[in-house]
Amino acid sequence: MDRFAIILAAGKGTRMKSKVYKVLHPVCGKAMVQHVIDEVSKLQVQSIYTIIGYGAEEVKAQVGDVTNYILQEEQLGTGHAVMQAQGELAGKQGTTIVLCGDTPLLTSETLQALMKQHEEENAAVTVLTAKADDPAGYGRVLRNQDGSVKKIVEHKDATEDERTVQEINTGTYCFDNALLFHALSQVSNDNAQGEYYLPDCIEILKQEGHKVSAYQTEDFNETMGVNDRVALSQAEAIMRERINRTHMLNGVSIIDPANTYIDATVKIGQDTVIQPGSILRGNTQVGEDCIIGPHTEITNCKVGDRNHIRQSVLSESEVGNEVQIGPFAHIRPESMIHDKVKVGNFVEIKKTVFGEGSKASHLSYIGDAEVGKDVNLGCGSITVNYDGKRKYLTKIDDHVFVGCNSNLVAPVTIGKGAYIAAGSTITDDVPGDALSIARARQVNKENYVSKLNMNNE
Ligand code: UD1
Ligand code: CA
Repeated sequence: MDRFAIILAAGKGTRMKSKVYKVLHPVCGKAMVQHVIDEVSKLQVQSIYTIIGYGAEEVKAQVGDVTNYILQEEQLGTGHAVMQAQGELAGKQGTTIVLCGDTPLLTSETLQALMKQHEEENAAVTVLTAKADDPAGYGRVLRNQDGSVKKIVEHKDATEDERTVQEINTGTYCFDNALLFHALSQVSNDNAQGEYYLPDCIEILKQEGHKVSAYQTEDFNETMGVNDRVALSQAEAIMRERINRTHMLNGVSIIDPANTYIDATVKIGQDTVIQPGSILRGNTQVGEDCIIGPHTEITNCKVGDRNHIRQSVLSESEVGNEVQIGPFAHIRPESMIHDKVKVGNFVEIKKTVFGEGSKASHLSYIGDAEVGKDVNLGCGSITVNYDGKRKYLTKIDDHVFVGCNSNLVAPVTIGKGAYIAAGSTITDDVPGDALSIARARQVNKENYVSKLNMNNE
């Protein structure tokens, strides 16, 4: 049987009170609509159609070509939104699953079960429902005496009595494709919101004598619709718990899951320990046997194995194996930290290749640099990379020793094995194997102080 999917994502999301279009709000680092698309992609569907309207260009740009897009120029309701797919789908035989772009917690397992029941029962429509402790705001599922679904009534249209019903419409349905478009053509906008409601198809199909079914899932949390920031934070908390649990079951230790924030897109290897207060974002990948945190923020980095990274911030960079970073280090974009490096406290590194076994243990700024192997950058080493207009490169060859409090004024090259005396300001290249001293000589004026005191008396 052919299967199609329609994802509704054209609404403005007025209740979010945001400049960001609702379905683009991230939940654990991934846009809500992307969560929905990713789960739907796991089903065997032939094609996915995403209905876009508000922020159409932004949605397209973020989500890309994993889905087809159909523009709903005016947002006249969920039924009207589905109707926009008429041109592409109306003539086709098969099952069409319809989902909202604002239900980011739905899993492919639940969608699979919904589809299975729908197809086995050969129903015209099967609606995914759940029991809510607080059903306010949702459409309610009204059933006949015999338990069969009668219709769905929106919260705003419901009577006091109907509002006591706890079974809600999750906004997810499987339809017989031909009957979906047949029913949609009869939906009116004669209701509290003056909108064409997709759920009205259920009553229409029922009254025509078609089989209308419901699949009630156990887990209300999974079906939550995010309409405002309160729900967004609840969705985030549920998703966070789910992500952390998956990592733990895969062999990652998370000391305090309630205080560990890992994006849906992050990968972590076995036996890595994540200490409290750590945030791992975007396309971050952490290898095995690492200790990350406490209080470490890593964004879009590839981190190898057996690393220890404490109280530090890393972004858009790569870290090899057996590296020690922190406490309080800052690795800024486009840096490559090779194996066995040590980057200690109050060290900032930017756009720098840091060779194997090299160290900057304390209080340094290393930017726009190529640092070779086994280099020792003493406390307070600084690459002077910026003249107020342009940035310049500092090259430090293997086995160089830079004494404390040295300025390396770029562009400058320090040859292999060279020694830089503490307190030097290096403005010219230093050949390999040389000792370079670039500071004023020390002068001791003996008995100077007591002489000064005598003259004052
Ligand atoms: C909808 C359902 C409600 C259900 C709830 C579940 C309707 C009429 N109501 O209500 O029964 O309990 O979801 O979360 O369907 N959209 C469009 N075009 C439009 C209108 C909406 O694409 O013209 C999209 C929105 O972007 C959103 C989705 O459809 O992703 C749902 O719309 P929303 O306004 O959030 O519906 P609810 O009031 O939550
Ligand atoms: Ca909604």
